[in-house]
Amino acid sequence: MLVIVKKNYDEMSGEAAQIVADRIRRKPNLVLGLATGSTPLGLYKELIRMHKKDGVDFSKATTFNLDEYVGLPPTHRKSYHYFMYQNLFKHMNIPQYSIHIPNGMAHDIDGFCDWYEQEIERLGGIDLQILGIGANGHVAFNEPGSSLGSRTRVKTLTEETRKNNARFFKNKDEVPKYAITMGIGTIMDAKELVMLASGSGKAAAIKAAAEGPLTSQCPASVVQLHRKTFVIVDKEAGAALTGSYPGSWKSSFMLER
Ligand code: PGA
Repeated sequence: MLVIVKKNYDEMSGEAAQIVADRIRRKPNLVLGLATGSTPLGLYKELIRMHKKDGVDFSKATTFNLDEYVGLPPTHRKSYHYFMYQNLFKHMNIPQYSIHIPNGMAHDIDGFCDWYEQEIERLGGIDLQILGIGANGHVAFNEPGSSLGSRTRVKTLTEETRKNNARFFKNKDEVPKYAITMGIGTIMDAKELVMLASGSGKAAAIKAAAEGPLTSQCPASVVQLHRKTFVIVDKEAGAALTGSYPGSWKSSFMLER
């Protein structure tokens, strides 16, 4: 696990974008796992810039999103489908057929979740998975207490998560109660992970994830078991860390090889 503490949100986003761009250049048919929320917005903005200005090409890439609310159609403005198209896909050249986001309107949700897992496997597995982290240590919608071996399935959102996500809705009552989410086992199967966090509200969660005990009470702590994880944070989110960490992935990446 490489923990990288950057000066601010923009540098955190730029660092993550460098890794994604590097991997797509090395493997144009990269299978990229994507996340929603406020945190990856800067990364997506930078990827769009790199695509438009530097010609970084995503035409052969495949994407899998981590999660989606149950009961929201793709056209719903608060759905993760809508979020991804607005903030990334409509500005990039990833073919529509290569984009995968859990279907929160599926009639047979369990069947859909099994299919999603099979589809990831059929396409060779996720090469690089982008992750946020919840203030309570959740990853995707794997809330505290989730099985560390879990696969894609429906989860009930905690009151804390619904409260946090209420900022995207008119009020908390509008926030769906359930979501389809990749499991922690699904995430751990990705060949590389990039976990991002910004702001003081994430400091305790990042401390627990990177330096605390491995526990299902902090699902993000499972990154400590992963073979190749980058935890990239800004100063505020890294404020509670006590280890000493590098400032750039390039130097650490070279050393690691
Ligand atoms: P945020 O959400 O990026 O909006 O803070 C992260 C998460 O809850 O996983």
